[in-house]
Amino acid sequence: MDKAKGRLVVITGVTRGLGRAMADEFIRLGHTVAGCGRSGERIEELRRTFRQPHQFDAVDVVSDEPVRAWAGRILEALGPPDLLLNNAAVINRNAPLWQVSAPEFSEVIDVNIKGVANTIRHFVPAMIERKSGVIVNFSSGWGRSTDAEVAPYCATKWAMEGLTQALAQELPGGMAAVPLNPGIINTDMLRSCFGSSAAQYPSAQQWARRAVPFLLGLNAKHNGQSLSAPG
Ligand SMILES: NC(=O)c1ccc[n+]([C@@H]2O[C@H](COP(=O)([O-])OP(=O)(O)OC[C@H]3O[C@@H](n4cnc5c(N)ncnc54)[C@H](OP(=O)(O)O)[C@@H]3O)[C@@H](O)[C@H]2O)c1
Repeated sequence: MDKAKGRLVVITGVTRGLGRAMADEFIRLGHTVAGCGRSGERIEELRRTFRQPHQFDAVDVVSDEPVRAWAGRILEALGPPDLLLNNAAVINRNAPLWQVSAPEFSEVIDVNIKGVANTIRHFVPAMIERKSGVIVNFSSGWGRSTDAEVAPYCATKWAMEGLTQALAQELPGGMAAVPLNPGIINTDMLRSCFGSSAAQYPSAQQWARRAVPFLLGLNAKHNGQSLSAPG
Protein backbone atom coordinates (compact mmCIF):
# COMPACT_ATOMS: atom_id res chain seq x y z
CA MET A 1 0.00 0.00 0.00
CA ASP A 2 1.33 3.43 -0.95
CA LYS A 3 1.52 5.29 2.39
CA ALA A 4 1.06 8.62 0.59
CA LYS A 5 -2.44 7.43 -0.35
CA GLY A 6 -3.24 6.41 3.20
CA ARG A 7 -3.12 3.17 5.12
CA LEU A 8 -4.69 -0.15 4.31
CA VAL A 9 -6.95 -1.22 7.17
CA VAL A 10 -8.45 -4.71 7.37
CA ILE A 11 -11.47 -4.89 9.69
CA THR A 12 -13.49 -7.97 10.63
CA GLY A 13 -17.11 -7.43 11.67
CA VAL A 14 -17.60 -4.37 9.49
CA THR A 15 -21.36 -4.66 8.95
CA ARG A 16 -22.55 -3.13 12.26
CA GLY A 17 -21.42 -1.52 15.49
CA LEU A 18 -17.80 -0.48 16.03
CA GLY A 19 -16.58 -2.17 12.84
CA ARG A 20 -18.96 -0.21 10.61
CA ALA A 21 -18.24 3.07 12.41
CA MET A 22 -14.47 2.51 12.08
CA ALA A 23 -14.83 1.74 8.36
CA ASP A 24 -16.77 4.98 7.79
CA GLU A 25 -14.21 7.01 9.74
CA PHE A 26 -11.05 5.48 8.19
CA ILE A 27 -12.52 6.07 4.73
CA ARG A 28 -13.56 9.63 5.63
CA LEU A 29 -9.93 10.28 6.62
CA GLY A 30 -8.63 8.99 3.28
CA HIS A 31 -7.59 5.46 4.17
CA THR A 32 -8.48 2.22 2.38
CA VAL A 33 -10.66 -0.37 4.12
CA ALA A 34 -11.03 -4.07 3.41
CA GLY A 35 -13.77 -5.48 5.61
CA CYS A 36 -15.82 -8.58 6.21
CA GLY A 37 -18.96 -9.67 8.02
CA ARG A 38 -21.55 -12.41 7.62
CA SER A 39 -24.54 -10.34 6.50
CA GLY A 40 -24.56 -10.40 2.69
CA GLU A 41 -27.14 -7.60 2.55
CA ARG A 42 -25.03 -5.24 4.62
CA ILE A 43 -21.91 -6.14 2.63
CA GLU A 44 -23.79 -5.27 -0.58
CA GLU A 45 -24.79 -1.92 0.93
CA LEU A 46 -21.14 -1.21 1.86
CA ARG A 47 -20.04 -2.09 -1.69
CA ARG A 48 -22.59 0.32 -3.14
CA THR A 49 -21.53 3.07 -0.71
CA PHE A 50 -17.75 2.66 -0.95
CA ARG A 51 -16.30 1.73 -4.33
CA GLN A 52 -12.80 0.35 -5.00
CA PRO A 53 -10.12 0.40 -3.76
CA HIS A 54 -12.28 -0.40 -0.68
CA GLN A 55 -13.32 -4.04 -0.57
CA PHE A 56 -16.14 -5.67 1.36
CA ASP A 57 -16.75 -9.40 1.45
CA ALA A 58 -19.27 -11.69 3.12
CA VAL A 59 -16.94 -13.93 5.13
CA ASP A 60 -17.58 -15.82 8.35
CA VAL A 61 -14.31 -15.63 10.29
CA VAL A 62 -15.05 -18.96 11.96
CA SER A 63 -14.22 -20.90 8.77
CA ASP A 64 -10.53 -21.07 7.99
CA GLU A 65 -10.79 -21.75 4.25
CA PRO A 66 -13.00 -18.73 3.37
CA VAL A 67 -10.73 -16.53 5.52
CA ARG A 68 -7.69 -17.89 3.61
CA ALA A 69 -9.38 -17.13 0.28
CA TRP A 70 -10.46 -13.65 1.42
CA ALA A 71 -6.97 -12.79 2.70
CA GLY A 72 -5.48 -14.06 -0.59
CA ARG A 73 -7.72 -11.72 -2.61
CA ILE A 74 -6.95 -8.71 -0.41
CA LEU A 75 -3.20 -9.33 -0.34
CA GLU A 76 -3.17 -9.77 -4.11
CA ALA A 77 -5.19 -6.62 -4.81
CA LEU A 78 -3.93 -4.28 -2.08
CA GLY A 79 -0.88 -5.82 -0.40
CA PRO A 80 -0.32 -6.46 3.32
CA PRO A 81 -2.46 -4.44 5.74
CA ASP A 82 -0.95 -1.63 7.80
CA LEU A 83 -3.61 -2.28 10.44
CA LEU A 84 -5.37 -5.62 11.02
CA LEU A 85 -8.34 -5.03 13.32
CA ASN A 86 -9.80 -8.24 14.73
CA ASN A 87 -13.08 -6.68 15.80
CA ALA A 88 -15.73 -9.33 14.95
CA ALA A 89 -17.19 -11.00 18.03
CA VAL A 90 -20.41 -12.30 19.55
CA ILE A 91 -21.66 -12.41 23.13
CA ASN A 92 -23.75 -15.11 24.81
CA ARG A 93 -27.31 -14.23 25.84
CA ASN A 94 -27.16 -13.24 29.52
CA ALA A 95 -27.27 -16.47 31.55
CA PRO A 96 -25.33 -18.26 34.27
CA LEU A 97 -22.69 -20.51 32.74
CA TRP A 98 -24.52 -23.75 33.52
CA GLN A 99 -27.52 -22.55 31.48
CA VAL A 100 -25.51 -21.75 28.35
CA SER A 101 -26.09 -24.52 25.79
CA ALA A 102 -23.11 -26.31 24.26
CA PRO A 103 -23.82 -24.87 20.76
CA GLU A 104 -24.03 -21.31 22.09
CA PHE A 105 -20.85 -21.74 24.13
CA SER A 106 -19.07 -23.11 21.05
CA GLU A 107 -20.22 -20.23 18.87
CA VAL A 108 -18.75 -17.65 21.26
CA ILE A 109 -15.43 -19.53 21.39
CA ASP A 110 -15.36 -20.11 17.63
CA VAL A 111 -16.01 -16.50 16.58
CA ASN A 112 -14.12 -14.70 19.33
CA ILE A 113 -11.00 -16.90 19.51
CA LYS A 114 -10.73 -19.14 16.44
CA GLY A 115 -11.91 -16.35 14.14
CA VAL A 116 -9.06 -14.16 15.34
CA ALA A 117 -6.51 -16.94 14.90
CA ASN A 118 -7.84 -17.53 11.36
CA THR A 119 -7.26 -13.95 10.21
CA ILE A 120 -3.85 -13.88 11.89
CA ARG A 121 -2.90 -17.14 10.12
CA HIS A 122 -3.72 -15.71 6.70
CA PHE A 123 -2.84 -12.00 6.90
CA VAL A 124 0.14 -11.87 9.25
CA PRO A 125 2.73 -13.81 7.19
CA ALA A 126 2.60 -11.08 4.50
CA MET A 127 2.94 -8.40 7.20
CA ILE A 128 5.93 -10.26 8.67
CA GLU A 129 7.53 -10.49 5.25
CA ARG A 130 7.24 -6.72 4.93
CA LYS A 131 8.25 -6.35 8.63
CA SER A 132 5.59 -3.75 9.36
CA GLY A 133 2.02 -3.48 10.52
CA VAL A 134 -0.06 -3.47 13.66
CA ILE A 135 -2.49 -6.18 14.77
CA VAL A 136 -5.25 -5.05 17.12
CA ASN A 137 -7.29 -7.79 18.78
CA PHE A 138 -10.47 -6.42 20.31
CA SER A 139 -10.62 -7.30 23.98
CA SER A 140 -13.03 -5.80 26.53
CA GLY A 141 -13.35 -4.53 30.07
CA TRP A 142 -14.49 -8.16 30.44
CA GLY A 143 -11.05 -9.26 29.22
CA ARG A 144 -9.58 -7.78 32.40
CA SER A 145 -12.49 -8.16 34.88
CA THR A 146 -15.62 -10.34 35.06
CA ASP A 147 -19.38 -10.21 35.68
CA ALA A 148 -22.13 -12.75 36.16
CA GLU A 149 -24.03 -14.04 33.11
CA VAL A 150 -21.30 -13.37 30.54
CA ALA A 151 -18.81 -16.12 31.47
CA PRO A 152 -18.36 -17.49 27.90
CA TYR A 153 -17.71 -13.99 26.57
CA CYS A 154 -15.32 -13.19 29.47
CA ALA A 155 -13.42 -16.42 28.76
CA THR A 156 -12.85 -15.35 25.15
CA LYS A 157 -11.80 -11.81 25.96
CA TRP A 158 -9.35 -12.98 28.67
CA ALA A 159 -8.09 -15.33 25.93
CA MET A 160 -7.55 -12.32 23.64
CA GLU A 161 -5.23 -10.80 26.24
CA GLY A 162 -3.09 -13.95 26.49
CA LEU A 163 -3.14 -14.81 22.79
CA THR A 164 -2.10 -11.28 21.87
CA GLN A 165 0.69 -11.01 24.45
CA ALA A 166 2.15 -14.29 23.17
CA LEU A 167 1.82 -13.16 19.54
CA ALA A 168 3.61 -9.93 20.44
CA GLN A 169 6.58 -12.02 21.60
CA GLU A 170 6.70 -13.78 18.24
CA LEU A 171 6.65 -10.77 15.91
CA PRO A 172 9.79 -9.31 14.33
CA GLY A 173 10.89 -5.77 15.18
CA GLY A 174 8.89 -3.09 13.40
CA MET A 175 5.52 -4.74 14.12
CA ALA A 176 3.06 -4.70 17.01
CA ALA A 177 0.21 -6.79 18.39
CA VAL A 178 -2.03 -5.27 21.06
CA PRO A 179 -5.21 -6.26 22.85
CA LEU A 180 -7.58 -3.28 22.90
CA ASN A 181 -10.42 -2.60 25.33
CA PRO A 182 -12.64 -0.28 23.29
CA GLY A 183 -14.65 1.00 26.31
CA ILE A 184 -18.45 0.84 26.58
CA ILE A 185 -20.36 1.79 23.43
CA ASN A 186 -24.04 1.61 22.52
CA THR A 187 -24.13 -1.19 19.92
CA ASP A 188 -26.24 -4.31 19.32
CA MET A 189 -23.79 -6.20 21.53
CA LEU A 190 -24.14 -3.77 24.43
CA ARG A 191 -27.95 -3.78 24.10
CA SER A 192 -27.81 -7.58 24.37
CA CYS A 193 -26.06 -7.52 27.74
CA PHE A 194 -27.05 -4.10 29.22
CA GLY A 195 -30.64 -3.86 27.90
CA SER A 196 -32.13 -0.35 27.78
CA SER A 197 -29.31 1.18 29.88
CA ALA A 198 -27.05 0.79 26.83
CA ALA A 199 -28.62 4.05 25.59
CA GLN A 200 -26.59 6.00 28.20
CA TYR A 201 -23.36 5.20 26.39
CA PRO A 202 -21.81 6.88 23.32
CA SER A 203 -22.78 5.79 19.85
CA ALA A 204 -20.34 3.83 17.70
CA GLN A 205 -19.97 6.92 15.47
CA GLN A 206 -19.01 9.14 18.44
CA TRP A 207 -16.57 6.48 19.63
CA ALA A 208 -14.94 6.10 16.21
CA ARG A 209 -14.13 9.81 15.94
CA ARG A 210 -11.68 9.36 18.81
CA ALA A 211 -10.72 5.72 18.40
CA VAL A 212 -9.65 5.89 14.75
CA PRO A 213 -6.94 8.56 15.23
CA PHE A 214 -5.77 6.57 18.27
CA LEU A 215 -5.55 3.38 16.15
CA LEU A 216 -3.66 5.25 13.43
CA GLY A 217 -1.13 6.32 16.07
CA LEU A 218 -0.20 2.75 17.08
CA ASN A 219 3.27 1.55 16.11
CA ALA A 220 6.00 -0.92 17.04
CA LYS A 221 6.58 0.84 20.37
CA HIS A 222 3.15 -0.39 21.53
CA ASN A 223 3.92 -4.08 20.90
CA GLY A 224 2.51 -6.22 23.71
CA GLN A 225 0.82 -3.38 25.58
CA SER A 226 -2.68 -4.01 26.88
CA LEU A 227 -4.40 -0.82 25.67
CA SER A 228 -7.73 0.98 26.11
CA ALA A 229 -9.31 3.26 23.52
CA PRO A 230 -9.67 6.92 24.52
CA GLY A 231 -12.98 7.40 26.40
N1 LIG B 1 -19.87 -2.38 22.40
C1 LIG B 1 -19.17 -2.43 23.52
O1 LIG B 1 -19.47 -1.75 24.51
C2 LIG B 1 -17.94 -3.31 23.60
C3 LIG B 1 -17.28 -3.36 24.84
C4 LIG B 1 -16.13 -4.14 24.95
C5 LIG B 1 -15.67 -4.83 23.84
N2 LIG B 1 -16.34 -4.77 22.66
C6 LIG B 1 -15.78 -5.51 21.52
O2 LIG B 1 -15.74 -4.66 20.38
C7 LIG B 1 -15.93 -5.44 19.19
C8 LIG B 1 -17.10 -4.87 18.39
O3 LIG B 1 -18.27 -5.00 19.19
P1 LIG B 1 -19.66 -4.33 18.77
O4 LIG B 1 -20.24 -3.79 20.01
O5 LIG B 1 -19.49 -3.46 17.59
O6 LIG B 1 -20.50 -5.64 18.37
P2 LIG B 1 -21.77 -5.80 17.41
O7 LIG B 1 -22.50 -4.53 17.31
O8 LIG B 1 -22.48 -7.01 17.86
O9 LIG B 1 -21.08 -6.08 15.97
C9 LIG B 1 -20.32 -7.25 15.80
C10 LIG B 1 -19.83 -7.32 14.37
O10 LIG B 1 -19.13 -8.57 14.21
C11 LIG B 1 -19.66 -9.25 13.06
N3 LIG B 1 -19.52 -10.68 13.24
C12 LIG B 1 -20.02 -11.44 14.24
N4 LIG B 1 -19.72 -12.73 14.05
C13 LIG B 1 -18.98 -12.78 12.90
C14 LIG B 1 -18.38 -13.83 12.17
N5 LIG B 1 -18.48 -15.10 12.58
N6 LIG B 1 -17.70 -13.52 11.04
C15 LIG B 1 -17.60 -12.25 10.62
N7 LIG B 1 -18.15 -11.20 11.27
C16 LIG B 1 -18.85 -11.48 12.39
C17 LIG B 1 -21.10 -8.76 12.97
O11 LIG B 1 -21.60 -8.80 11.67
P3 LIG B 1 -22.48 -9.98 11.01
O12 LIG B 1 -23.55 -10.32 11.98
O13 LIG B 1 -22.91 -9.39 9.70
O14 LIG B 1 -21.50 -11.09 10.82
C18 LIG B 1 -20.94 -7.28 13.33
O15 LIG B 1 -20.51 -6.55 12.21
C19 LIG B 1 -16.13 -6.88 19.67
O16 LIG B 1 -14.90 -7.56 19.65
C20 LIG B 1 -16.60 -6.70 21.10
O17 LIG B 1 -16.35 -7.84 21.88
C21 LIG B 1 -17.47 -4.02 22.51
